[in-house]
Amino acid sequence: MKDFIARYARRGMLAGALLASSLAATAQARREYLLTSDWKFALGDLPDAARPEFSDAKWQTVQVPHDWAIYGPFDSRNDLQKVRIEQNNEKEAKTKAGRTGGLPFIGTGWYRRRLELPQFGPGKRAVLLFDGAMSNAHVFVNGREVGYWPYGYNSFSFDITDFLRPDGRNTLAVRLQNQPESSRWYPGAGLYRNVHLIVTDDVYIPVWGTYLTTPEVTADYARVKLATEVAVPPGRLIGRKGAEIDVKGSHDEHIGRGAMKKVLFLRLDTDIQTADGQVVATSSTPLESGLPVCEQAFTILQPQLWSPETPTLYTAVSRLYVKDARADTAFRLTDEYQTRFGIRSFKFEPEKGFSLNGQPRRFKGVCNHHDLGPLGAAVNTAALRRQLTLLKELGADAIRTTHNMPAPELVSLADEMGFMLIVEAFDEWKTPKVKNGYSQYFDEWSEKDVVNMVRRDRNHPSVVLWSIGNEVPDQWAPGGTKLARRLQDIVHREDPTRPVTAGMDQFDAAVSNGFAALLDVPGFNYKPHRYAEAYGKLPQGMLMGSETASTVSSRGVYKFPVVKAKDKQYPDNQSSSYDLEASNWSQTPDEEFVMQDDLPYNLGEFVWTGFDYLGEPWPYDEKWPSHSSYFGIFDLAGIPKDRYYLYRARWNANKPTLHLLPHWTWPGREGQTTPVFAYTNYPSAELFVNGVSQGRQTKASSDQPQTRYRLMWNEVKYQPGSIKVVAYDAAGKAVAEEEVRTAGKPHHIRLVADRTNLAADGQDLAYVTARIEDAQGNLCPEATSQLQFKVSGAGRFRAVANGDATNLEVFHQPRMKAFQGMLAAIVQASEQAGEVQLKATAPGLKGATITLQTQKKAVD
Ligand code: GAL
Repeated sequence: MKDFIARYARRGMLAGALLASSLAATAQARREYLLTSDWKFALGDLPDAARPEFSDAKWQTVQVPHDWAIYGPFDSRNDLQKVRIEQNNEKEAKTKAGRTGGLPFIGTGWYRRRLELPQFGPGKRAVLLFDGAMSNAHVFVNGREVGYWPYGYNSFSFDITDFLRPDGRNTLAVRLQNQPESSRWYPGAGLYRNVHLIVTDDVYIPVWGTYLTTPEVTADYARVKLATEVAVPPGRLIGRKGAEIDVKGSHDEHIGRGAMKKVLFLRLDTDIQTADGQVVATSSTPLESGLPVCEQAFTILQPQLWSPETPTLYTAVSRLYVKDARADTAFRLTDEYQTRFGIRSFKFEPEKGFSLNGQPRRFKGVCNHHDLGPLGAAVNTAALRRQLTLLKELGADAIRTTHNMPAPELVSLADEMGFMLIVEAFDEWKTPKVKNGYSQYFDEWSEKDVVNMVRRDRNHPSVVLWSIGNEVPDQWAPGGTKLARRLQDIVHREDPTRPVTAGMDQFDAAVSNGFAALLDVPGFNYKPHRYAEAYGKLPQGMLMGSETASTVSSRGVYKFPVVKAKDKQYPDNQSSSYDLEASNWSQTPDEEFVMQDDLPYNLGEFVWTGFDYLGEPWPYDEKWPSHSSYFGIFDLAGIPKDRYYLYRARWNANKPTLHLLPHWTWPGREGQTTPVFAYTNYPSAELFVNGVSQGRQTKASSDQPQTRYRLMWNEVKYQPGSIKVVAYDAAGKAVAEEEVRTAGKPHHIRLVADRTNLAADGQDLAYVTARIEDAQGNLCPEATSQLQFKVSGAGRFRAVANGDATNLEVFHQPRMKAFQGMLAAIVQASEQAGEVQLKATAPGLKGATITLQTQKKAVD
């Protein structure tokens, strides 16, 4: 077992068992291991690779989570798709090169690993839990197939007990296969999420075996209900002390004469603990005869309510005890299971909209794909945490996990850091959007996929809505409404506490055929101009911008003249950062803001997208080398674009925002009109160019939504020097200022780390932004030098990205060209505590070094 990394050091478990002195306790009734190391990987279809005797000595050794395609190289021939995208209003099929990122994710890949289980024997069970495997996973233990799961985004588990060898030396093999034209974005490839091995006794709580709800929440008390599933070996019956056991009535073929020997008495003891381990409620409940589910109820006084601003969590620590009905023995601990939860109430009400803990609020949300930019689809908690940290600063409070189930780590972080989630299932149902997409599995798998999605995540306080689909063509296909009802009913059956939504784009069809009317919460994609009509026609009395804006921009790139445009293209494959360019089906942010602010029944919005992602390089999806999106509020490196400040000014009420654009280094533009915008939460401001006032602008309603949310000086003539804005509060007092200066020649590199103290856990990451600056410290906004990185000490270079959607440099090599003067390098901590140094150099520039510290976290 040495090579397994123990996941839970279960503090409190031993103590709890010892306290219950009448019980014979095994402290380690459950062991859970993350299978991260010692994996072997190879590409190609290798029919014998499942067999234990197969030699994988020549295969690559990899760590899981692993994305086999992220290392590139980029190539326009990878998943070249000739398609007509109906949703984008295209009239004919066209060749799209970077649609899925231009990375080599198609094909078959194999993973193999030893599974050493020396102490495994009778009375034990072993389960493999995959958080997600891309895709079409066939899982083999000792050469025998234990199961198959096609959908690459879902979590699934297989009981492998009966496949294990008595000598404890086992071989695990996983075959994955990705088809061409199976996606609209970069899906990633391989075992890109964690794989867990869970070993329990054979009387145990199965995977996702608890369902915790909070049926009543007030400031004074909360009622908590916990339903816990219990599994017993075949031939065993659950009995209850003192109750008559109906053996004859049992259909279990193993029950017959001498059945009393096979009856087990079970008891579940659950403590509700606060985050610091204080027990605030307990229950000790004998299981009812024959019932494999134990219902427990608790009352928590003065509960600390969960919200995005106060993400307080509790944990239900359940201990399952067993005793043979006949034997004169004591109860013994057979399993321990933890259910982390939050106490909150929410409502979606006609006319009133959404409220959390009685407080009305609107979703300030973003949609995000699952990839982590330069890390690809391989999940990393530190990378997710950084995304959420950046989104908090932005003032966002919600995420829609488009268009699939997220990594479980994201859901846990949303609980901890305070984000409300819409967890989404599918991008298509029965009618395909892409040739080899989910439609091929829909009939057989959709119920299983929805069940796993809901069961995995239904105890998380962050989840407030389930989405059954995004822009599914079944919105208008015959029978589509029936499918929607079926899926919504499955969700209701699995979780009656949360409503169901879907992202709809086919307004006329969905509103007239009953599709939109049957959803608990109607979600519209890019339809602000039709919200009022939808409200009038639909029965729900509320609606949501499930996907909004899709404004495109490239960080730090500004195009002239400054005009509002749809599907605008430029020869350099970039989009302008004046935030006035969108796609033909979408809008600028401000157009949505108007409808959010003026329509009281609007539940809020989910902007497409928080972060740029690999694939879908609209408006250049026919123009290689573009291969990642332009839609993000943050670029692919996680560096904010100007648009970040437009949303932050609106969403982050706790911090002042005052941001000027564009940059002010425009040799050759002297005397030419160069509009200046300020994104701010102050109501008005005055602009100065080289000290000369350009007048004061005040936000005001007009036919032009931009004037309500931005301050714009459209007639400014460029001259080198500086632009400075002075902001005034509502009383007219000058309260803040911001200045941007013309930069001189590139002089040095400056490194800025998001964190300088990392955990020495082999996983933690620091994102170091490199800026090329002039001698005075101004960003050189057009600098493109290639930076070279070197990491020494207790860490390693992990990846680099510059946010340029056309850049074909691979992410994992320690060099990259700056894009608009910047990029972000990622350093990964090793397992040794110590100092890590990142050094950046480039010809003609003064280099820079930054030092980070890593340390071992306190071990329980
Ligand atoms: C939507 C779609 C998203 C993305 C977006 C780009 O229609 O739901 O997945 O394609 O358009 O604007």
